[in-house]
Amino acid sequence: MAKTALSYVCQSCGATSTKWSGRCDGCGEWNTIVEEKPLSQGPAKKSLGNARGRAIALTDLSTKEAPPPRTAAGLDELDRVLGGGLVPASAVLVGGDPGIGKSTLLLQAAAAFAKSGLKVVYISGEEASAQVRLRAQRLGLEDAPVKLATETNLRNILTTLDDIQPDLAIIDSIQTMWADNVDSAPGSVSQVRAAAHELTTFAKSRGSAVILVGHVTKEGALAGPRVVEHMVDTVLYFEGERGHQFRILRSVKNRFGPADEIGVFEMTGGGLSEVPNPSALFLAERGQPAPGSVVFAGIEGTRPVLTEFQALISPSPHSQPRRSVVGWDGSRLAMILAVLESRCGIPFAGLDVYLNVAGGMRVNEPAADLAVAAALLSAREDTSLPAETVVFGEISLSGALRPVSQAENRLKEARKLGFTTAILPTGGKIANAGGTALKQMDDLTSFVGEFFGAG
Ligand code: TYD
Ligand code: MG
Repeated sequence: MAKTALSYVCQSCGATSTKWSGRCDGCGEWNTIVEEKPLSQGPAKKSLGNARGRAIALTDLSTKEAPPPRTAAGLDELDRVLGGGLVPASAVLVGGDPGIGKSTLLLQAAAAFAKSGLKVVYISGEEASAQVRLRAQRLGLEDAPVKLATETNLRNILTTLDDIQPDLAIIDSIQTMWADNVDSAPGSVSQVRAAAHELTTFAKSRGSAVILVGHVTKEGALAGPRVVEHMVDTVLYFEGERGHQFRILRSVKNRFGPADEIGVFEMTGGGLSEVPNPSALFLAERGQPAPGSVVFAGIEGTRPVLTEFQALISPSPHSQPRRSVVGWDGSRLAMILAVLESRCGIPFAGLDVYLNVAGGMRVNEPAADLAVAAALLSAREDTSLPAETVVFGEISLSGALRPVSQAENRLKEARKLGFTTAILPTGGKIANAGGTALKQMDDLTSFVGEFFGAG
């Protein structure tokens, strides 16, 4: 029999290769390749051959079954991100940086679901039960009927869950779990993959919902296994800047609800508290209109959210000027700078450019293009946009402005927060601007001409 060959697995993207190297060919990360023994498998057959399998029963698409009954936690910000509550037999992955507040969130969620009548088991592989109890006490949750254990051995956990038959099992975290049939260290791709597979299979076969906690690498990928993301039904990211108290729970995949929905929380001394009106919170620190500051009327999932973009531009002492972005896509910034340079003739060469989204929010919408351009121009020309003005719209490479979806929703949220004027692209379906003064523009050049002189 052939010796089981070792394989080399990238801990960042899960790519396997037959030899070690310093840099992964799959994702380009350095020092992420680790030797792992492959799962014990029989010799692979060349083809399935002629032996017949069992015929599968096929059904129609139409159904008389009611949609799966969901359980709401009573935490609106969490329930919305889950698509209206927790679905039985579903597997949910909650990813986030270490220390961002995942354990706190899930302990609060465990207590909330337990109070809504679910049988909840919380298994921590990272903290001793006493530590978790102390945290529960601090959060005022010690009376919640949650069952607690500290364990990392997957076999023991599955046996326990099988006996107890909980409605919800929370595993904190997937990186600490180890399966005794897999020969690699806990946290390695094979272990994480095996643990996620066993636990999601458990969820499907026993009808329990399972929530897995996963740590994220510095690049923002779930440490090790992107493979876990496709095994589960729902992937949520818990994000935020360490220095800010705001935390955003974002659904990046949801088989039972809309993706890209967000829930906003504030980390306080007494745990996470819900933020029902995030726009007011993100704009709270904004003072008088200042050069470089622009309010963007965005949509996160189904909800309009206003955020402030801040830009700073200064002469660069370096031959290669800095382009630094927090909360927005760096390559999108480069694109907007290029459009401003080549379509509007406004050079940024020799200038350092800093762009920041206030409050630790991350914006992914291309609809923020025009707000970014406005912030850059406003910083460069040292002029502010008129007061009480929101901006949104996509910029194409030609310099034309493209209308974006849900304009009326954006305008409505802006009005609620006292904004009277909106700068936006021409077109788009706006039947009712509700009293907001609209300044609609065809292209970036006319925008520059109107607000920043000739540039
Ligand atoms: P934690 O939930 O342990 O993070 P994770 O599980 O994602 O690693 O949260 C840790 C941080 O949260 C810690 O720095 C302290 C802070 N925190 C509060 O500010 N208030 C609280 O009530 C709690 C429980 C934690
Ligand atoms: Mg934790």
